[in-house]
This record gives sequence, C-alpha cells and structure tokens, in this order.
Amino acid sequence: MFPERLKQVQLGVQAALNDALAQRAGIPVVHAMRYALQGGKRIRAFLVIEGAALFGIPMARAMPAAAAVEALHAYSLVHDDLPCMDNDDLRRGQPTVHVKWDEATAVLAGDALQTLAFELCCDPLLGQADRRIELVRAFARASGAEGMVLGQALDIAAESAATPLTLQEITALQAGKTGALISFSAEAGPILAGADRAPLAAYANALGLAFQIADDILDVEGDPAKAGKRLGKDAGAGKATFVSLLGLEGAKSRARALIDEAETALLPYGATAQNLRDAARFVISREM
Ligand code: IPE
Ligand code: IPE
Ligand code: MG
Ligand code: MG
Ligand code: MG
Repeated sequence: MFPERLKQVQLGVQAALNDALAQRAGIPVVHAMRYALQGGKRIRAFLVIEGAALFGIPMARAMPAAAAVEALHAYSLVHDDLPCMDNDDLRRGQPTVHVKWDEATAVLAGDALQTLAFELCCDPLLGQADRRIELVRAFARASGAEGMVLGQALDIAAESAATPLTLQEITALQAGKTGALISFSAEAGPILAGADRAPLAAYANALGLAFQIADDILDVEGDPAKAGKRLGKDAGAGKATFVSLLGLEGAKSRARALIDEAETALLPYGATAQNLRDAARFVISREM
C-alpha cells in the first residue's frame, strides 16, 4: 500500500541522512544541514526507490541515491527561500535556515548539502562503478545550469518580465525548476540497472509537470497549516505559474490529464508499477 510504503521510504531516507551527518558531528554548518534535512514528503526518494524496485534493486541498495536526491532538493529549498530568491520565512513548518541562523549559514549549508548529495551518489552500495558514474553525470545535469538551476533562474527572471510568459515558456521553466530533479529520481533505477530509461522518463515528465501545477494550485487554495510554508505569495511576487496562465480550473484539469499520461507511460511494467501509479495520484491530491 502506498501510504505504508511512503512511510517506509521516509524513515529509511531520514536514517541514511542522519548516518551521513553523524560522521560530521561538531562542525557548525552541519547543525543547519541537519535542520534543513528534516521533514518533507520524500516524494523524490520514493521515485528513486520504486524506480529501482521495478528492476529488482532492493530498497537498501538504492537508498544512497534516494538520500542524495533529497539532500540536493533540501539545498535547493534553502537557497530558494533566501531573501534574494523567494524571501520566505517558513519551510516544512519551521523557520527557514536564514531566519533561524543567518544568510551566510543558509548559503553555506546549501552548498554543503549539494556536495553531500554527490558524495552519497558515489556509494559502492549503488553497484558497478560505470553505472554510478552515469548516475552522477545525470544527477549533475539535472541539478545544474541546464536543469534545476536554469529553472530557478527563469523563475526569478519571470518576476520582472515585461510581458507574461507563454504556456510554452512556463512549461520550460518548470521542466528545469521541478521537472529535472523529478526526472532524475525516476530514472535513477534504470540507470543503475543498465535498463531502458524511456518509459520512466515519459512517466516523470508528465508527473513533474503535474507536481508543479499542484504546487501552484496549493499556493492559491492550500491550507497554510498543512502546507508548512507561506502560501498566497506567487501572484503578488509576479511569479509565472500555471494558475496565472490557465486559471484554477484549467490548471486542475491539465494536472489530471498529465496524471493519466503518467499512468499510461507505466503500462509496460504492469502491476509491478502500482506504487508509482499511486504516487502519481498522490501528487495531485496532496495538501502539503
Ligand atoms: C517543494 O517541493 C518545492 C517544489 C519543487 C515545488 P516539495 O513539495 O517536494 O517539498 P517537500 O520536500 O515535501 O518539503
Ligand atoms: C522551488 O519552487 C523549486 C526549487 C527549490 C528548485 P517554488 O519556489 O515554487 O517552491 P515553494 O513554493 O517555495 O516550495
Ligand atoms: Mg521559487
Ligand atoms: Mg519558493
Ligand atoms: Mg511554489
């Protein structure tokens, strides 16, 4: 069942991240890293674990990659919340890192979370060296100047754009900001197994887009107590979102269509992909 399986992944990832930081106890920036790694739905980790399971890789063996993607995601959130980016004071129900400590600590904790992520991706538990190298390469691509960082740059640039972005431009922005890391997460399993990535790439493409649409919808009509972050900020900040372009109802029906698309992409795996199907449904029904 999906909720139990997600819980299992959440506990496993937290344990792996705690272990990684335990070896670095007593270093000042590590306190802020540990803080930033608490909470979160761990949906990216779930995609890594379930994508790997499709190819017979057990959870324990895929866990370093799942922890890696959550460490990188945590870094992206710490930096996303900085005053020079989205200027947010609440994340996962807690004060953001720069509010709890200061901006320098948030920048440095984010930097160190990013390098920790790549270190975790090198773990021999993940299997053959050539496949691990391919994993690290795909991870770097997804995270960097043509992936997440590109999306974040386009997101910030859109705030001061003279004309609103087109649907195509918003889709490209999202494909970087949220889509790249979600795609990497789903493809990690086939990369480690040396298998065809195409079906999971198609699944994650649709899922990533639906995920960001859901995030944009939550900003408009979510419950702040459940979301654990400030809502109702995107429109005022001039953010280019799917809701700003399609309206609430349009965004919802687009998200539903994308989830159908994601499920269709899983057809080659039959019943073994049920957890990934459930994850797709979860992404558009979530309240946090
Ligand atoms: C939030 O990601 C930021 C986006 C990329 C939209 P999540 O909704 O996965 O955040 P956590 O990890 O569960 O806190
Ligand atoms: C954040 O997107 C994406 C990344 C951190 C890469 P948002 O700015 O929409 O995320 P929230 O709404 O602050 O969680
Ligand atoms: Mg942002
Ligand atoms: Mg933000
Ligand atoms: Mg958002």
